[in-house]
This record gives sequence, structure tokens and C-alpha cells, in this order.
Amino acid sequence: MSNLLITNIKALYGLNNEGLLKKCGNEMQTFSSINDAFIFCENGKISAYGSMDELGLSSFANSNYETLDASGKFILPGYVDSHTHIVFAQSREEEFVMRIKGKSYEEIAAAGGGILNSAEKLKQISEQDLYVAAAGRLNQLIGFGTTSIEIKSGYGLTVADELKMLRVIARLKQDFPIPIKATFLGAHAIPLEFKQNRKGYIDLIINEMLPNIYAEGLADYMDVFCDKGFFTPEETDELLEAGYKYGLKPKIHGNELGYTGGVQTAVKNNALSVDHLEYTSEEEINCLLHSNTMPVALPGCSFFLGIPYAPVKKMINAGLPVCLASDYNPGSTPNGRMGFVVSLACTQMKLTPEEAFNAVTINGAYALEISDNHGSIGIGKTANLLITKAINSLAYIPYAFGEDCIEKTIINGRIFNGKN
Ligand code: NIG
Ligand code: FE
Repeated sequence: MSNLLITNIKALYGLNNEGLLKKCGNEMQTFSSINDAFIFCENGKISAYGSMDELGLSSFANSNYETLDASGKFILPGYVDSHTHIVFAQSREEEFVMRIKGKSYEEIAAAGGGILNSAEKLKQISEQDLYVAAAGRLNQLIGFGTTSIEIKSGYGLTVADELKMLRVIARLKQDFPIPIKATFLGAHAIPLEFKQNRKGYIDLIINEMLPNIYAEGLADYMDVFCDKGFFTPEETDELLEAGYKYGLKPKIHGNELGYTGGVQTAVKNNALSVDHLEYTSEEEINCLLHSNTMPVALPGCSFFLGIPYAPVKKMINAGLPVCLASDYNPGSTPNGRMGFVVSLACTQMKLTPEEAFNAVTINGAYALEISDNHGSIGIGKTANLLITKAINSLAYIPYAFGEDCIEKTIINGRIFNGKN
């Protein structure tokens, strides 16, 4: 039976009766809800919702369905994590210890660690083992409430290994019942063998990686790490222009390590999103205000690397939309729990819980071009939801940082019990 009626919900949050595709500025203050609610999921879609008083009047009362009682619990749209690197071979806690002892993330990267360390490990692992590791992470994340996700390549850095990563993402797309977007991030770092020949690596991306990826239909988006010590704005322009020729819209890493023109480059290239933004001044905010590019902050990265938090409150006050994502990766953010992202947004970035939840639902969905069907509650939208444990209020989720407040994840109107 594929229909599910959930009753006695303490509050159903994330309603979007206006058909919004994203929320900007003041709109982010509202995370609309109905108290003492029900929701009916039919054939994978939300087909009715309202207050329990209205339930008896509903026209679906005669159809077949399972019932779930959610007394004391909240229901929200599932988290949309629009920026991750969950396909990787191994963790990198040795670099974590080096940083504790005083080395910076950039020093470790410049000495051949960091992304290049992950690329070395990725070369050694088979596609099958890489798939198993990534699928395990994805299963876990869905259990923590993530119901749509973006996954990047970028630890391959050779034609064969970038294809290996993207094929793993393609298999995840096939095997998991949630929306997954694949982003090609060949321009994540310059491999050692190209250190004296940056142009050679950029040409390899443009002339070999992109055509092969296109031929297999392996990517939805193109990313470049446009930052100090990585790719310059001019190199990024060239790479993104090539990506567009293969139909790939940009979603770029920018302004993590300095005021390096990443935001301006993203806007100039009409990027769907620009992500990180730890170094964002008035100038970057003004630039974003004249664009459709979604600013995406990654507070888990700031927490773990001890770098500034993106000034998202200023962005919201200026009228911008703000999205938050996990950035789950083995170097800067070895954690993909979106509940913790929401906690950091509230405790460190001073977002209200409502602003933070909008940032990880509807605005996350905008950053993946799926907000017509995901990231909010509305009739006909996909029934991807999360059900909390019995808790006092929505604010308890960010307040109880590190606690797992999610009891169940609903995917396409069914309770998710893990893949297979
Ligand atoms: O988003 N900054 C660039 N890329 C990743 C980290 C990659 C790594 O250290 O493995 C990030 O933080
Ligand atoms: Fe990242």
C-alpha cells in the first residue's frame, strides 16, 4: 500500500501555499505551520494536509492507507543538502591532528596534503569499494533527515578517476529514492604533476574530462574552487565557459580563504549558487543583490577549520536569500548532519530557528533547482518529510546541538528503513 496518513502532528512546518521557489530577506523569518495537523501522502506526493479538525471532511477518507500517529512530534520538509563531497575513499584525521598542532588548512594543502591527499587515496580504491563507502554515508544521512542531496566529484583529478567518482554518483542516483544532483569538480586543486603547468591541467579538464563526462551524461553542474591558492577568477571564467558548452550550470566554491573575487566571478557567470562565503563584505553582498545566484554558507566548515562564519545575518538583512548546507567531506567538514548545521547557524551565525530551517529546506531546494517539488509542504509536492522525536518545540532541534532529534524520514510517502 503506497498511501500514508499521518495524524495528530504537534505542528506541521514549512508550508508553502504561495508557491514560492525561494525565500529572501524578511520572508525567511516565517516558517509557516499548522498546529495539531494531519498530512496525507498519496502515490509519493502530498495530496492533503490541514488541522485535525478538518480531517473528517477530507475526500480521501475512503481510500486505502496506512496510518501513523505523530502525537507530540513535528513534521518538516526533509533537509535539502545542496553541497557535499560524500564520495571519498578515506578519512583524514592525521591532518586534523596537524592542524591542532598549528599547521593551517592552506599550509597542509600547499605541502601536497588536503585535496591531493584524498586524490591519492581515491586512486587506490576500486569503484565498487568507493560506491559502498559513499552509499553507507548516504544511508546514514537520510536517517538524519536529508531527503535531497548534491554530490561533487573533485578527488579524482585525472580523467579516469573523475569519471570513477561520477559513475559512483550515477549509481547512487539509480539506487536511492531521493533526488541526487551530480556536480563535476575537476577544478578542485591542481595535481602535483601539473604544478608547473596549470594551463595543462585546465586544458585537460576542458578538452578531455568535460567531453567524456558529457558523453556519459554524468554531471548536472560544474564547480570550480575559485580561491586563494587554487583557481583564479580568470581560470574560473575559462572553465565555466567550457562547462556551459556541455550544458553544465555553475555552482562554485568561493571566498572561503579570502576576498578573492569568487562571488563576483560566480555572479558574472550566472552561477546557480556560490558556496562558502566566509569572506563576504558589502561589495560581495551588493554584487549578489543584482543576481539570481543563491549564497550558500557552510557553517560546519567554519566550525571544524576555525575560520570565520559567513555573515549570513547581514546578507538576510540586506534582502538576500541564504541557503545552508553541510559540505560533508574528509578535510574541512567530516560531518553531514543537517541538524548540526542548523544548530551552528543559530548559535554562531545568529539566525533564528525559522531562518535556519528555511535555509536548509526551500532555499536548499532552490540551489538544486528542485524547489517546485521539494523543500516545502504543498499539494502535489513530493512527500519527502522528516518526523521529529517527541520534543517541546522546533527550536529544541538547534538548541539540543549534537542530539539526534529525527525519529523517521519519509521518502516518497514511505517510511525510509535504509536502502535494501
Ligand atoms: O568545500 N574548499 C574546497 N573543498 C572542500 C574541502 C576539500 C577537502 O579538504 O577535502 C570544502 O571545504
Ligand atoms: Fe565544498
